[in-house]
Amino acid sequence: MTAGLTPSEDFWEPRYRDADPAAGRQPNARLTELLPGLSLSPGLAWDLGSGPGGDALWLASLGWHVTATDVSGTAVSRVAAAAAERGLSDRISAEQHDLSRTRSEGPFDLVFACYFHTPVPIDRDQILRDAADRVRPGGCLVIVDHGSAAPWSWRPDGQDPVLPTPAETLAGLSLGPGWSAERCEQAERVATGPEGQTATVTDNIIVLRST
Ligand SMILES: C[S@@+](CC[C@H](N)C(=O)[O-])C[C@H]1O[C@@H](n2cnc3c(N)ncnc32)[C@H](O)[C@@H]1O
Repeated sequence: MTAGLTPSEDFWEPRYRDADPAAGRQPNARLTELLPGLSLSPGLAWDLGSGPGGDALWLASLGWHVTATDVSGTAVSRVAAAAAERGLSDRISAEQHDLSRTRSEGPFDLVFACYFHTPVPIDRDQILRDAADRVRPGGCLVIVDHGSAAPWSWRPDGQDPVLPTPAETLAGLSLGPGWSAERCEQAERVATGPEGQTATVTDNIIVLRST
């Protein structure tokens, strides 16, 4: 492991450093589908594991003020650079956090985690519980997870990853009575791989509202 880096940073940073700097600028298709149904006016949003910021940039373009967080300094720098290119710097705060150690301060109207998966052992449930604690009353926590792995996905040991079901992720949040689950389901979509190949994959979609 590289001295001074956390295990998560050590894993993710080289992946972004070696990636096309212009990659990952598109918003998540599920998030774009879900947002209109949330009935939220643009306010404060927090993106957990933002990567290069496709979701944060899209929300900022709609008037949201977004805190984009990722463990990779390169990813965070790319979010900030893309925000500057688009004249969105006043609406995006790009922060480097290893979310298993530090978090952004809330509260937020919308907290979301899209494909916040990692092979590095972290207490994801605890991170998502803390994220839920930062949602304002009336606000939403949106989790979009992989429910299946695409054929081209990284498989370090040749095995499909074990992915929690929507119900397992919801149970792991141990939410109290001040929440309503508006969505907790799976949905299929056709994904496009790095060589332009396509495959049907499953997403897990969880939408929770703080009441
Ligand atoms: C599969 S990628 C998803 C990126 C982006 N949300 C998307 O939908 O394209 C997972 C992201 O989580 C970030 N990540 C993993 N572990 C993390 C941690 N402990 N703290 C913060 N970010 C982390 C990675 O750097 C990576 O950008």
